[in-house]
Amino acid sequence: MRALLPSNRPLLILAPMQDITDLAFWRVLSRYGGPDVYYTEYFRVHRDSHPEKYILKSIEENPGNKPIIAQMIGQDIDSLVRTALFLQKRKITGIDINLGCPAPIVCRKEAGGGLLRHPEKIDEILRIVRSVVSLQFTVKTRIGFDSLDEFPALLDLFRRHPIDALTVHGRTVREMYKPVVHYDAIARASRLMPCPVFANGDVRCVDTARRIVEITGAHGLMIGRGAIRNPWIFQQIREAADGEVRTRPTLRDLREYIELLYQETREPGFRETAHVGKMKKYLGFIAPGIGVDDAFWKEIRATLTLADLFSACDRHLAANDPFPPVPACPAV
Ligand SMILES: Cc1cc2nc3c(=O)[nH]c(=O)nc-3n(C[C@H](O)[C@H](O)[C@H](O)COP(=O)(O)O)c2cc1C
Repeated sequence: MRALLPSNRPLLILAPMQDITDLAFWRVLSRYGGPDVYYTEYFRVHRDSHPEKYILKSIEENPGNKPIIAQMIGQDIDSLVRTALFLQKRKITGIDINLGCPAPIVCRKEAGGGLLRHPEKIDEILRIVRSVVSLQFTVKTRIGFDSLDEFPALLDLFRRHPIDALTVHGRTVREMYKPVVHYDAIARASRLMPCPVFANGDVRCVDTARRIVEITGAHGLMIGRGAIRNPWIFQQIREAADGEVRTRPTLRDLREYIELLYQETREPGFRETAHVGKMKKYLGFIAPGIGVDDAFWKEIRATLTLADLFSACDRHLAANDPFPPVPACPAV
């Protein structure tokens, strides 16, 4: 990943988000400049798994024409090896292992964040999967399962393997998505890891991006929810690095973005209720904080039809006012 690092700013990476940062979203994001690197949603890997066709399609189409890292989640080593060998024949730059998913059903199977309770298993996975991956090989981790006291030992473990980048989501598995991100832990990773470290967690705007790079010394920023809310964020961070943020989207621009999401998620035979549900998934990250007392999100949540959804958009997103940033994490 080192070869991808820009000279004057952090590498900008789209976080993987199951059912959210899908091909439709990638298509929309590419119209706004997009990140430098895309991570796929995770491929679920187990004894009977076949790589999900819809994720393979996002690799084939690669609408942003940027490097793609394919992410795998699982703990069965033979299956991870089989899937890595399959994926590395596709047009990707690298393969990532998910050590962060906090979903109880995933953790119970000792995959994702659940693996953080089994460092000896992580050690084996990294040793064996690394040995078969000829492309870039990266890891995305949280900072512990129960407590951030686990992180120093995890870092010692990661340091023993020739991985090409480590993304650190600065929360434990138990903390799920609680407000505080432990940027000091990410800073520790940046200091100690021989490979580039990417900071993840609550990068919301140009200012938080700048502060997080200052605090953590990270080589890259991985952005998830901040990019769903503000697809201009990558372009704005690039502009800031060049001296001046010129892209200043308004509520009207946000309305246009929601329309694009609608167009790109249209599929033949997609029932209206399902399409409304899909749009609400994105809007759950976009709408909060807009209107008095969250009025926009409250209306969106109650809609059942596309007509109602867009009339709520028309009521709340007609002005040329800038749209408000989501409050930053208290630690920034
Ligand atoms: C709905 C949702 C789905 C997610 N899916 C994945 C995933 O497939 N793989 C992964 O590594 N992380 C996943 N994450 C975690 C994000 O990649 C990211 O680490 C987290 O949202 C924090 O970053 P952010 O504050 O920029 O959103 C998911 C998060 C959310 C909210």
